[in-house]
Amino acid sequence: MRTIRTVTELRAALAVARREHTRVGLVPTMGAFHDGHRSLMRRAREECDVVVVSLFVNPSQFNEGADLRAYPRDERADAASAAELGVDYLFAPDASELYPNGFDTTVSVGRIGQILEGAHRGRAHFDAVATVVTKLLVITSPDAAYFGQKDAQQVLVVKQLIRDLNLPVELVVCPTVRDLDGVALSSRNLRLTPADREQARALKRALDATRDLVSGGEDDVARLQSEAVAELTGSGAQVDYFQIVDPATLAPLTTVAGPALAVVAASVGGVRLIDNQPIT
Ligand code: PAJ
Repeated sequence: MRTIRTVTELRAALAVARREHTRVGLVPTMGAFHDGHRSLMRRAREECDVVVVSLFVNPSQFNEGADLRAYPRDERADAASAAELGVDYLFAPDASELYPNGFDTTVSVGRIGQILEGAHRGRAHFDAVATVVTKLLVITSPDAAYFGQKDAQQVLVVKQLIRDLNLPVELVVCPTVRDLDGVALSSRNLRLTPADREQARALKRALDATRDLVSGGEDDVARLQSEAVAELTGSGAQVDYFQIVDPATLAPLTTVAGPALAVVAASVGGVRLIDNQPIT
């Protein structure tokens, strides 16, 4: 595996692959790899001839400086992990490579970026995600790009920009990888104390309880939501939202009559966690 720092070098490295019409896969990440990231790399490795993993802690998508500073960084371990999985290129640019002085363009997704996480973190969050993902897609021009269902809204934001900007890339969505206790893997889990971790389990419990109630015939979203919120707050989590939404648009539902997605954001011990689960 080769670590690449500049756009020019990456384009040169991929030019050969392009000429040979090989399938290029891109896995965008912010590093601190866990099995969730690795599942995306494995899938890309299975499906593509050339696998590029980008590692860039995108400063503009963090709405709090403290969260950015606390974000785990270990490029050496990440490089070893990616190499072991057979990744071809680790694209790890400096911020000045992607955002040189004078950078002044933002890709701003509309409605889908402004609700839920967009409403809680501010619309700048998904604008920052959309901008960096667009840049990575344009720089790499992959045939396929791999994203995790863990960040369900991010997937829809990327889907929207790919469609609206006519980017010729296939979006591959990979299932959420969880620890044995049900907690979705996240780089932020490293900051949970054992007591926080216990509380973090409530997110998956609330999602499962919702799914089970729906299987049992409950279709009233208000009732489902209040049960789930009670589970979360009873466990000590601070709930930002628990909503049952249309999986394609994230529009809130009032009754569950077809495909639905339960989405949750809650803080435990000052660490903000998100999770989601299809409930039909
Ligand atoms: P990051 O949080 O590093 O996540 C990189 C990719 O891994 C995302 O597609 C995310 O959905 C996926 N992922 C994270 N946890 C997962 C889990 N438990 N199971 C499956 N997949 C998981 O998401 C970002 O970085 C950034 O916003 C990025 C897209 C790189 C833009 O900066």
